[in-house]
Amino acid sequence: MRHLISPLDFSVEETNDILSLAHDIYTNPSDYSDLCRGKKIATLFYEPSTRTRLSFEAAMMNMGGNALGFSSAKDSSVSKGETVADTIRIVSSYADICAMRHPKEGAPYVASRYSRIPIINAGDGGHNHPTQTFADIFTIKELKGQLADMTIGFCGDLKFGRTVHSLINELVRYTGFHFVLISPDELKLPDYVKNEVLERNHCTYTETRSLEEALPDLDILYMTRVQQERFFNEADYIRLRDTYILDEGKLAKAKKDLLILHPLPRVNEIAPEVDDDPRAQYFTQAKLAVYVRQAIILKLLGMR
Ligand code: NCD
Repeated sequence: MRHLISPLDFSVEETNDILSLAHDIYTNPSDYSDLCRGKKIATLFYEPSTRTRLSFEAAMMNMGGNALGFSSAKDSSVSKGETVADTIRIVSSYADICAMRHPKEGAPYVASRYSRIPIINAGDGGHNHPTQTFADIFTIKELKGQLADMTIGFCGDLKFGRTVHSLINELVRYTGFHFVLISPDELKLPDYVKNEVLERNHCTYTETRSLEEALPDLDILYMTRVQQERFFNEADYIRLRDTYILDEGKLAKAKKDLLILHPLPRVNEIAPEVDDDPRAQYFTQAKLAVYVRQAIILKLLGMR
């Protein structure tokens, strides 16, 4: 049985197969509309979510299956003190596959050790978010036509942003990516990602505080939200939350074919005026996430 806890749980070859499958689902959705009839996905969300939970449920429903679960810890027996291990033992007999989001790093991994069904990590604390990474690379591949040889800027909360950590772990496995890390000093990419991921894989990267200076060189800009829920101190959050606000003025100096991504939710970091710029593709990215999650479900159920 396979689980998806880290983006590296699939080899590059398997990852490319999932992207091809996602592309086929995207272009021929009706070929897949009945494949999961009678199957159920459990979505166990101990942390808030809109896109991730709903797109997992939509993914299963698009293939004729059903979804059950909870959308906050307070609605489940965890509020009575139940452990993740006990919860997943039970859910294993109610569903065929499970997507779990949890504020504690490693919780989906713990679940996978007690589970009789595949576990998908739908975000664990500031650690990983592998299915968002699949959505991100699928969007890059579909819209840029390649997954290599580009300069990608990560902007915002690189310290707590799990989508950033997961995507960097993935992209170092592809050739020719140059990484530009744009953040205030307090929210820099953690050293363990720099040392164990970027440097160990001999990737080139630069660090800067200035979005304006970095922007003209970028092929992809990955904006992120400052992760309020992971701050220890409200005053620090308030001081840092509006460090970067992408607007049309700043974009005047960017490449004409820049791809602007954001895992969403967006707060203030992208001005609404940017939404109409053809370079802004974060809503497409959220839409494509459903097809890639369909592909991941099929792969983990051993149906592809
Ligand atoms: C992200 C997350 O939960 O990590 N959202 C998502 O799943 N699309 C990003 C965020 O919350 O800022």
